[in-house]
Amino acid sequence: TKINWSSEMAEKQGYEHFMLKEINEQPESLKWLLQDRLQAGKLDLSESGLKSDWLSDYDKIHVVACGTAYHSGYLAKYLLEDMLKLPVEVEVASEYRYRNPLVNDKTLMIVVSQSGETADTLAALRLAKSKGADVLALVNGRDSSIARESDMVLYLNAGLEIAVASTKAYTNMVAAFYMLAVDGMRQRADIDAETVKKYTNDLIRLPELSRQMIKQSEEKIKEIARSYAEQKHIFFIGRNTDYTLALEGALKLKEISYIHAEAYPAGELKHGTLALVEEGVPVVALGSRTDIFNKLFSNLKEVKARGADTFLITMEGQNYEKESVDHVFELPQLNQYFAGLLAIIPLQLLAYYTALVCGKDIDQPRNLAKSVTVE
Ligand code: G6P
Repeated sequence: TKINWSSEMAEKQGYEHFMLKEINEQPESLKWLLQDRLQAGKLDLSESGLKSDWLSDYDKIHVVACGTAYHSGYLAKYLLEDMLKLPVEVEVASEYRYRNPLVNDKTLMIVVSQSGETADTLAALRLAKSKGADVLALVNGRDSSIARESDMVLYLNAGLEIAVASTKAYTNMVAAFYMLAVDGMRQRADIDAETVKKYTNDLIRLPELSRQMIKQSEEKIKEIARSYAEQKHIFFIGRNTDYTLALEGALKLKEISYIHAEAYPAGELKHGTLALVEEGVPVVALGSRTDIFNKLFSNLKEVKARGADTFLITMEGQNYEKESVDHVFELPQLNQYFAGLLAIIPLQLLAYYTALVCGKDIDQPRNLAKSVTVE
């Protein structure tokens, strides 16, 4: 792998902030993640220590992490359960470590971390290991504590990430879970080789599609950001994997712009949060899932009826009533499991440009640290 860990990466190279530079590096960092693991159109994860038939060794998966890494794990819960037919639990490490999780030697424990040094994640790893789990780390930091103590390591290869708000490490976490899902599917007797091939080909397209997304997003997002910068509350809604993207979109926005942002499973809105939606309140609706798009869209119409300013992110070719939507962003056609990785790019840019208009310290938000090595 020719990842650029050099001092060049520690400079802004003409970008105003590291965060913007790192958003723009995503096509490249995705390529770094994929290139060594895709040989002649076939996935090979053996370098991580995973056996070629690992799926049958486990009866459940636990995914544990903090912050943005946790959001990648939450997405993976939906994805892996559906694609591998194994029960998957996901939890933040600070909770997991202080209860008695049911773990044994048929548990695959996946810890996710950019730095590889997060104290709670490391403690959760040790706990699961002591109970007999096999631990697989999806980690960016080479020679980090989490990498050293795990049984298997799938390096994220995102290169150096400096901005506190994680972007390229997150997309590589998501893509790493896509790789695991495809590798696991290959081991299922009820899945044909054609299906595996189709998903593998979609993996190969990710760097190029993400490049297109960045190019297409910037101008439109800058315009939306100008109006968002004046808001007090912004809501993000989605269902299934789109809900987990909503969580990440809200986190990005709040941590760097300090605007209150909240994510809700779209169907839960009417159980409370809808009370906060009034004239002009922005609601970002994530609609990359085609299977439940209609359900999401009926929630969007509910907020529109209360005066919300709606921003829909959906797949190209999706049908919907245009009059309910104030802003729209269309994703290039991709299978609905993987389209989430593209949908996150406009959300990262939305957080960035909103914070820029607000005049905040984007790379170093107040009270936050890049790596949390104490409890
Ligand atoms: C801190 C960072 C977040 C990160 C989280 C987990 O809170 O500010 O960006 O998501 O830690 O860090 P890790 O290095 O384990 O991914």
